[in-house]
Amino acid sequence: MKEKIEKILEEVKSFHADSKEALEQFRIQYLSKKGTITELFTEFKQVAPEMRKEMGMRLNELKNTIQDIIDEQYKQFETKSEGKTDIDLSLPVEAMKGARHPLSIVREEINDIFRRLGFVVAEGPEVEDDFHVFAALNFPPDHPARDMQDTFFISKSPNENKPTDVLLRTHTSSVQVRAMENNKMPIRIIAPGRVFRNEAISARAHCIFHQIEGLYIDKNVSFADLKQVLYHFVQEYFGEGTKVRFRPSYFPFTETSAEMDISCNICGGEGCNICKHTGWVEIMGCGICDPNILKACNIDPEQYTGFAFGMGIERIAMLKYQINDLRLFFENDLRFLKQFEKA
Ligand code: PHE
Repeated sequence: MKEKIEKILEEVKSFHADSKEALEQFRIQYLSKKGTITELFTEFKQVAPEMRKEMGMRLNELKNTIQDIIDEQYKQFETKSEGKTDIDLSLPVEAMKGARHPLSIVREEINDIFRRLGFVVAEGPEVEDDFHVFAALNFPPDHPARDMQDTFFISKSPNENKPTDVLLRTHTSSVQVRAMENNKMPIRIIAPGRVFRNEAISARAHCIFHQIEGLYIDKNVSFADLKQVLYHFVQEYFGEGTKVRFRPSYFPFTETSAEMDISCNICGGEGCNICKHTGWVEIMGCGICDPNILKACNIDPEQYTGFAFGMGIERIAMLKYQINDLRLFFENDLRFLKQFEKA
């Protein structure tokens, strides 16, 4: 048996597998259930007791040697096969191409225009309370916007006369209130953010959308200032020569209130489907801050006046890029998003 073991030891030591398959064959030949080593262990049972210790050691040594040979040669195959691929790992990677979401692009462009006019970006929470979204903005308790149909409530207050409801903000005007509460005069903020309304999703409406709010409070701020700032914004964003018009409107927190239209940037005012053949498209609500709002936030309306405006980012993006379905902004279809990749 001793000679047998020695012969096998020599045999395996000179073994060199030229493929993974050959190595596997080698393993089967020696180490599998019906392999040489198992056979030897069967023979080992007949070995005379005084030889047992030595033979056992030799046999185990042989087994371990074979296992080492397999492990060692297997490693070589691993590195060899990696080296064989035609990938050149030293080449620089192709620049990763990503695209910003159109709403982010538009938001930043709008922010930039107002930043250059001295506005600073402000933020407020999306989960708000009744006070900041409605009460402080002069919404009467029975105003339809407060209704379940419009607002997503997180929790309703038990006392109807003292609304402490927690809700998802329905407009970014809540940030106006927070700015007035916290800031020293003058206030000049722009507040982009997500808003929520309980509306059925369609091409023209969504339960989540984005707004940008503006608020400017200082001494002697007038409607003429509001018009000039918004006129400047429109020229910058939609191009020189874009016309604006203001239509009287109503918001509980502004007095005078207006809606601003621009001449349709798609047909140039000639009339098309987008402007419903009127030549004008509405882009935002605005107005002079109601003195009651200032008072509620401890700002003296005899000393200070201000204006506010709010626009939907989706609406601006739809006009700018001629997108006709609001849902596209939320579906993340790559065919849509890829169009906003920078060349
Ligand atoms: N918050 C109003 C809306 O969501 C827009 C608005 C903002 C109007 C500021 C006037 C002043 O419709």
